[in-house]
Amino acid sequence: MAGLWQAGVVGTGMYVPEKVLTNADLEKIVETNDEWITTRVGIKERHIAAPEETVSTLGARAARQALEEADIPPEEVDLIITATITPDVPWPASACFIQRHLGAKQAAAFDIQAACSGFIYGLAMARAFINNGMYRTILVVASEVLTRITDWQDRNTAILFGDAAGAAVLRPVEAPRGILGTYLGADGSKSELLEMPGGGSRHPASHETVDNRLHYIKMKGNEVFKYAGRAMAHANKRVLEDTGISIEQVDLLIPHQANTRIIEAAARLSHLPMERVYRNIEKYGNTSAATTAVALHEARREGRLGPGAICLLVAFGGGFTWGSCLMRL
Ligand code: COA
Repeated sequence: MAGLWQAGVVGTGMYVPEKVLTNADLEKIVETNDEWITTRVGIKERHIAAPEETVSTLGARAARQALEEADIPPEEVDLIITATITPDVPWPASACFIQRHLGAKQAAAFDIQAACSGFIYGLAMARAFINNGMYRTILVVASEVLTRITDWQDRNTAILFGDAAGAAVLRPVEAPRGILGTYLGADGSKSELLEMPGGGSRHPASHETVDNRLHYIKMKGNEVFKYAGRAMAHANKRVLEDTGISIEQVDLLIPHQANTRIIEAAARLSHLPMERVYRNIEKYGNTSAATTAVALHEARREGRLGPGAICLLVAFGGGFTWGSCLMRL
């Protein structure tokens, strides 16, 4: 393997807005309670963006931190991929705004939309671009301001979501370090189970779509719940098979933070003890594409992923989409 270079993460960053909304605060907004949310979902609090904050301002802060850690000036970034379902505006891409905030003048920029799996999809794309030699330095930014599309009258969804951004900067690194494999999947027949129906070409924004609350997250929680754990376990299995790495070799699983019970199901079905599974859902709630990016940064910062550690990231989200990414740090 000596002398082989492949895409790897060389810096990470994160940002969460200052304002915190606790379960006790939520009790004043919808009919719910801390005990139900804690036991059924595992969330204690979530962060809420200030009115002037957007996906690109959150994302730029996380990206700047990732670049600083890697000691890479913004001018050296070749490409910015932003994963989000809550872009600053429907178009142009939030990645272009992030490019502007960073002053990353040489970078190409575009958004991808794979809901909660967006960071994994972004890593897979960045890896392909680097491994085929097209680009050398790529920022993958996962940023969400989900509380702007949260229906505060719907207790089934209002309790779940929060705002955050995470970022990773990728460059060629010397094997055996780097991204060892990725696996992506989707099932478009289930798209109506988790969606925001309003504001696109099917239901363009109108008084009627606003009156019918179509610009909010709609979710069949039970159906999503049943699918999520199994899909993440499947994604884990596939990437491990493809790379010839066994589950025993995985030092840390970083699953999408949607619900503690989904995380536990994914871990159980993947035959991993919870000691080797990362969780921070209690602090941030479900921040869609950002959860895995934020968790990767926190796990590194907390020393749970030292040099040489093998990390398995896995996510599941609207679409449905799912994906996994196996890397050696
Ligand atoms: N507070 C208090 N009680 C609530 C509640 C809330 N926010 N939401 C629902 N309930 C009640 C229901 O009314 C129901 O009461 P009943 O038994 O008296 O009828 C009971 O709790 C169970 O409701 P149910 O909808 O079956 O709960 P659940 O166990 O399926 O949990 C979710 C609901 C949303 C937490 C769960 O389905 C889930 O996490 N799904 C996946 C969501 C997700 O992660 N989406 C994003 C994926 S990327």
